[in-house]
Amino acid sequence: MSAHTALTTQPNLMLRKLVLLFYIALTLGCHTQSDPKTSEIDQKVEKLLKQMTLEEKVGQMTQLTLNVISKGILPYDVSEPHEIDEERLQNVIVKNHVGSIFNAGNHAFERDNWQQIIARVQQVATTQTRLKIPVLYGIDAVHGTNYTYHSTLFPHQIGLAATWNPSLVEKVAEIVAYETRAINIPWNFSPSVDVARSPLHSRFYETFGEDNYLVKELGKAMLKGYQGDTVADKYKVAATAKHFIGYTMPLSGIDRSSAWIPEHYLREYFLPPFADAVRAGVKAVMLNLSEINGIPAHANIYAVQEILRKELKFKGLIVSDWEAIREVFFHHHVAANDKEAVKLAIDAGVDMSMVPFDVMFSELLIELAKEKRVSTQRIDESVRRILKLKFELGLFEQPLYPADNYPKFASEAFRQVSQHAAEESITLLKNENNLLPLPKTAKVLITGFAANSMRSLNGGWTYTWQGHDIDSHGGYKHTILEAMVQKMGAENVRFVESAFDSTPENITQAIAAAQEVDYIVLCLGESSYAENFGNVRDLNASEGQVQLARQLAATGKPVILVLTEGRPKIISAFESQMQAVVMAYLPSNEGGLAITNMIFGEVNPSGKLPFTYPIAANMLLHYDHKYSENYAFEVQYPFGFGLSYTTFAYQNLTLDKKQLRAGDTLTVSVDVTNTGNRAGKEVVQLYSGDIFASLAPSVKRLRRFTKIELQPNETKKVIFTLLPEDFAFITPKNQKLAEAGAFEITVADLKENLELVDNIDFAEKSCQ
Ligand code: BGC
Repeated sequence: MSAHTALTTQPNLMLRKLVLLFYIALTLGCHTQSDPKTSEIDQKVEKLLKQMTLEEKVGQMTQLTLNVISKGILPYDVSEPHEIDEERLQNVIVKNHVGSIFNAGNHAFERDNWQQIIARVQQVATTQTRLKIPVLYGIDAVHGTNYTYHSTLFPHQIGLAATWNPSLVEKVAEIVAYETRAINIPWNFSPSVDVARSPLHSRFYETFGEDNYLVKELGKAMLKGYQGDTVADKYKVAATAKHFIGYTMPLSGIDRSSAWIPEHYLREYFLPPFADAVRAGVKAVMLNLSEINGIPAHANIYAVQEILRKELKFKGLIVSDWEAIREVFFHHHVAANDKEAVKLAIDAGVDMSMVPFDVMFSELLIELAKEKRVSTQRIDESVRRILKLKFELGLFEQPLYPADNYPKFASEAFRQVSQHAAEESITLLKNENNLLPLPKTAKVLITGFAANSMRSLNGGWTYTWQGHDIDSHGGYKHTILEAMVQKMGAENVRFVESAFDSTPENITQAIAAAQEVDYIVLCLGESSYAENFGNVRDLNASEGQVQLARQLAATGKPVILVLTEGRPKIISAFESQMQAVVMAYLPSNEGGLAITNMIFGEVNPSGKLPFTYPIAANMLLHYDHKYSENYAFEVQYPFGFGLSYTTFAYQNLTLDKKQLRAGDTLTVSVDVTNTGNRAGKEVVQLYSGDIFASLAPSVKRLRRFTKIELQPNETKKVIFTLLPEDFAFITPKNQKLAEAGAFEITVADLKENLELVDNIDFAEKSCQ
């Protein structure tokens, strides 16, 4: 609240001011630490840079997709089986000095193929080019090394978010790094630290959900898993925080379209996860390929130079998104032609252009440099960052590691982590009369289009961009149906196939089969998609799915609805007729097994929703909505919600102080008891609510969480510490301010009041 207690009325004024100054000084020290090897690498970079021609420098700033060096008809029609086109390779690497290749062409490869492809690329770069600079190969390994057949795939980020388990997320990322390095690719275009503020947006599933604190914490965990202590490690990769900034809340919901987000809200909701990723040493940042407030991120000098570079002090590599510089021209119409788009992007601060199909970017940048419209210093800045990353990754010393360095690739131990991640993500949203877990002797009908589909378990970015051919390559893994048959025996499982939008025939067959069973497991949700292919006209479950659900419910047999989907499709037309609802997100290759284990009680569910599950397509509200939205706030399931097969009780919420001042630490404790009869995991969530403030506050905000495991009757005291900064918001003047006034601290259904005594202005914006 704005009415703050005047400092001058306080007797210990001087002391308080000193504390405040000390506190501000402390928070100013939020820089990333410098690497001890940095100066040595800087010297090497300078030495190399001095020897480079303009063409060689610009080549380093150019990134092309694998297709461009492959046999076939460009840009998309790559010949099968894949083969490198030696002439094209020479043209790209030797003649045009291209410094980075990325992507998988049209589909995944076996690990051996990858080894051969990368080896050939590096061989040419390091032996046939004048300066022998290795290529920086990048890839989207966003839920496992997902462009490698037989690699270990994991739940997409939205599922990992539902685990609320940072150490598990870190473990997953460690494995992804290991398996990505195992194919000699050292650079990952992951994690997404975007905040999913629109379920309409097709990239909802690529995020850690709607809350920026959860995104921040899990983003850091993922980053740590990818990069470890040093990316020179042969088991680590350079990570990319993407997509800077404000990508996931387009006004229309349509991918790559306009967002209207005032700066203070950009800073409040979208900036903190990037700020933390930078602080944690992320090596690269990828820009948002859309526009915000009319300015494409790739032409946004203010966002990139002022915020990312100066405020956040990001020293690493800024890579464009796919064709995004060209899009400044042909998609956003903010440049008159390709050349002006290149000029805008270079002025904004892009270091490397993901072009991706030709060398036009290099040619135009050379022209701009010769015309002195882009300075040599500006080009050198970018090339320095690119070369530095290549040195840091150890590519100059050893660009390739033999496959036998990676004996754990696709191992059983890695598979188990994937299964564990899927099991911890699964969120039990409804369980009327404790229907679940089902007895192992139960007879079950399984139906719905997702029942026997690897595609709807895996989503996009799986072997192909759209994830459409997993069913032909994931056959060695289990669909939900297969896992269920394996667990219960074919004699106990009836299966009726269904189209995505169930036909009357599908429905009639399913109703007939339902007569022979005790329970119905209905598997609905989405099929795979990525980016603009996932745009939706309607968030409602399709009419065929609604009819199937309703008519199965009318049989009187209890229906367990299992959802495999990348965003919340609206199910309110039939949800009340379902006895149980299981949200599995996109759990990937071990998802079938994980869902089965949970339904039959081998796993006690502990996932919690990382977003608000809407009840209607026109009611897309967030848990941290404003008070003015309160009266209309109706949801299918709330953010942070998820049931367990046991029960938990919360008691003794205690704050060590009722008044908080600058420099103070607030300690909050709460006792959590497992009051049921089996062991279970619980996510303890602490929220703060600002009663009133000069900027309309959210009704509540997640401030801390932890996941604990409790045996029956066991009690644990959970202790959280908070700082005044945790109660701050970004004002319309873009200052971070904690306003004096009344707050509420909530944990489960317990609530305590807190007063913030002073206004505290967190002067340095980069410390948000
Ligand atoms: C996506 C990025 C991705 C890039 C490379 C783009 O279309 O927006 O997230 O990293 O392609 O595949």
